[in-house]
Amino acid sequence: MSENTIRDVSVVGAGTMGNGIAHLFAQHGFLVNLVDVDAAQLENAIATIGKNLDRQIAKGLLSEEEKKTTLANISTVSDVVTGVKNAQLIIEAATENIELKLKIFKQLDEAAPPGCILATNTSSISITKIAAATKRPSLVIGMHFMNPVPVMKLVEVINGYQTAKEITTTIVALSKQLGKEPCVVNDYPGFIANRILMPMINEAIYSLYESVAGVEEIDTVMKLGMAHPMGPLQLADFIGLDVCLSILKVLQDGFGNAKYAPCPLLVNMVMAGKLGIKSGEGFYTYTAGNKELIVAQRFL
Ligand SMILES: NC(=O)c1ccc[n+]([C@@H]2O[C@H](COP(=O)([O-])OP(=O)(O)OC[C@H]3O[C@@H](n4cnc5c(N)ncnc54)[C@H](O)[C@@H]3O)[C@@H](O)[C@H]2O)c1
Repeated sequence: MSENTIRDVSVVGAGTMGNGIAHLFAQHGFLVNLVDVDAAQLENAIATIGKNLDRQIAKGLLSEEEKKTTLANISTVSDVVTGVKNAQLIIEAATENIELKLKIFKQLDEAAPPGCILATNTSSISITKIAAATKRPSLVIGMHFMNPVPVMKLVEVINGYQTAKEITTTIVALSKQLGKEPCVVNDYPGFIANRILMPMINEAIYSLYESVAGVEEIDTVMKLGMAHPMGPLQLADFIGLDVCLSILKVLQDGFGNAKYAPCPLLVNMVMAGKLGIKSGEGFYTYTAGNKELIVAQRFL
């Protein structure tokens, strides 16, 4: 299958990433079936896509007419079997849980037409393991978009152990067609993005834990000194501290190397329900909104 034969795309999971992926494909003229088991998530996703399209219009990046066409290209479905039956490409962006992903891929393999490519947006779960749950491992690949999907340029394309070369070529060409920069990597724990990012975030948390510096100082050093747009602690809050912890555990288990052990402070914060923006507090507190950086009381 080449990128030119892909027209019908199903996105499974309509959360943060799923709505962004649906938005991107629909804006580029693909017919998108957005699938989620939770009907409220589907409603929220369409509302979010509408708001994000309005933001693009306000910036002069899109016309009202293009907004209409984009929204018209998206259908929502709560039943996976119906939602994927005509797809040439499925991108799974459901909750990051290995048992759930294995179950979904078995289901997708049974319901999708032969030849349909099965991609996953997983941040850390092995593509090879996901592929092994299907009878078409050569058609399974990682297509790791970054948040927010319509804005971020990178797609980390991950080859599983059995991914066919022509599938990688198709996904690379398709990513370019979507205006993205694909980077092809192989399937080892954390791939490239999180293998490098998470140890940096963990080290920033260790630096705070060992009182080397405060929250603001750590983030300022990395913003002003390394030209990072966001400091590592702010970024951890943005990603979700529970997500950071689970990716570090994947690295630690996958490599069996103590250097990936999550900082005890991170473990404690997750146990206390301090998960970053989504819970209202992490290293910063978000009572005044997500944009204003107020260091959490605990770290003053
Ligand atoms: N959030 C990020 O910054 C980010 C970045 C890159 C990759 N990812 C990856 O993207 C995936 C999705 O993450 P997210 O942040 O959008 O999660 P999310 O929690 O916002 O959304 C997950 C969605 O999956 C749905 N879901 C659960 N079980 C399902 C099923 N059986 N069938 C269909 N839908 C189902 C849930 O109802 C929910 O709407 C994960 O694999 C995550 O690792 C996330």
